[in-house]
Amino acid sequence: MYQEIELDKIDIHAEPPTEEPARQYYFMAKCRQIVQAERERLGRPLYACIQTFGCQMNARDSEKLIGILLAIGYEEAEEEGADFVIYNTCTVRDNANQRVYGRLGVLHGYKRRRPGMKIALCGCMMQEASVIEKIRRSYPFVDLVFGTHNLFQFAELFYTCLVSERMVVAIWQETDAVVEDLPSERKYAFKSGINIMFGCNNFCSYCIVPYVRGRERSREAEDILREIAALARDGVSEIMLLGQNVNSYGKNLRQPLSFAGLLEKVEEIEGIRRIRFMTSHPKDLSDDLIRVMKQSDKICRHLHLPLQSGSTKILTAMNRRYTKEQYLSLVDKIRREIPDISITTDIIVGFPGETPEDVSETIDVIQKAGFDNAFTFIYSKRTGTPAAAMAEQIPQEQVKAQFDRVLHTVQETAKQQAGRLLGRTEEVLVEEVNAHDESLMTGRLSCNTLVHFPGGKELLGQYVSVRLDECRGFYYMGKQVYGP
Ligand code: SAH
Ligand code: SF4
Ligand code: F3S
Repeated sequence: MYQEIELDKIDIHAEPPTEEPARQYYFMAKCRQIVQAERERLGRPLYACIQTFGCQMNARDSEKLIGILLAIGYEEAEEEGADFVIYNTCTVRDNANQRVYGRLGVLHGYKRRRPGMKIALCGCMMQEASVIEKIRRSYPFVDLVFGTHNLFQFAELFYTCLVSERMVVAIWQETDAVVEDLPSERKYAFKSGINIMFGCNNFCSYCIVPYVRGRERSREAEDILREIAALARDGVSEIMLLGQNVNSYGKNLRQPLSFAGLLEKVEEIEGIRRIRFMTSHPKDLSDDLIRVMKQSDKICRHLHLPLQSGSTKILTAMNRRYTKEQYLSLVDKIRREIPDISITTDIIVGFPGETPEDVSETIDVIQKAGFDNAFTFIYSKRTGTPAAAMAEQIPQEQVKAQFDRVLHTVQETAKQQAGRLLGRTEEVLVEEVNAHDESLMTGRLSCNTLVHFPGGKELLGQYVSVRLDECRGFYYMGKQVYGP
């Protein structure tokens, strides 16, 4: 689904251009020549596989990487059959890192059986010096390693990797570059994520993201709008605007524009029917944003508003810059203005110094805010963050009991919220054939809840009216309704 690029017209014997993205297109053309020669030699296509370990932003980066791999002549495949495997890693919690190390062992096995196979690692984990050391020492069979700041250089780095026998490692510590107009391949034909900003300036004390993603940089509004308009012309009707803290969008732009202002412009784009965004930091959520959401019939009735903790003492230590009361009154205000909104959240249990009483405060907020869903995480100590150096780190066994208390409350609250729409007929964007029953189609409501209903493949990507007949925990079963 990437735009066809005329790589054949590029003179690959000339010196590489110095400006971007022209330089990357030049290296794509060079890679393509090697790939074509290899295909002919082997008498079969070459296959590439990318695995994404992280968040939506990570997933969006993967779409860019696969876009380039397709442009240079690879086809997509499963890991074990691929000639090129790339892991796009995440380091937000230690279990994400451990999964990568575990899988690398398996990959090594494939590589032994498949001479010529290349393995690459990229993403947030690669921005940590200790990780690079470990890879050099314990995983020497890896061919290419690069980080988040120079992802746009992938074609160039991949070329170096194709013509070299040694491990290629290219990590930048920082960048303010935002390179536009590289190819990308969408996972879905009808919906897409769009980066509106990169990096984060918040430095929540537990979080490694600002260190591995760098300072906050917003994309120019005109680039964002141009990308969305092109997606709309290509059949995309639902978009998700992506950033670590979308509410602070636009601050560093030549012509400052607020997130609410950006949304108003996005709304005007013809062909876009649904607008989502991730993530909102409570401290920066403006009245203007609530007003724009309320007036809009395109902005979805869903807000992901990470709480992290309900205890003001812990929130202060986390450097979240809001109190329990401020969070609750924000939720009240949003619900008053937009009554049918669904609010979801993230919660961390086991932050240094957190007592069972602090956890009770969190439970109190969950009950009062009435979250539709919450992702609950056990605190993971990230080297280099202020929280890692705090005294009073809590032993895992102690955290587990508190985690269970929170999880129980989240489930109870979500159950109470679910079923709110029972009996109503609502618009559903049909996303896929049901994974367990082929006679059912699966779609999503504006509030992000899944709906399963009898239907055929021809409905994929369509908006249909579905009567919500039965609520089963986190999803509905329904029937398509025809006519007005
Ligand atoms: N920028 C987003 C969050 C990105 S990370 C925001 O501020 O809302 C996604 C979630 O991972 C966070 O909301 C937090 O709940 C969790 N998280 C981040 N660092 C963590 C850590 N060290 N241990 C456990 N969970 C963490
Ligand atoms: Fe991490 Fe906080 Fe930035 Fe979110 S806002 S990415 S939790 S530092
Ligand atoms: Fe993980 Fe990086 Fe996203 S650390 S959560 S992939 S920004």
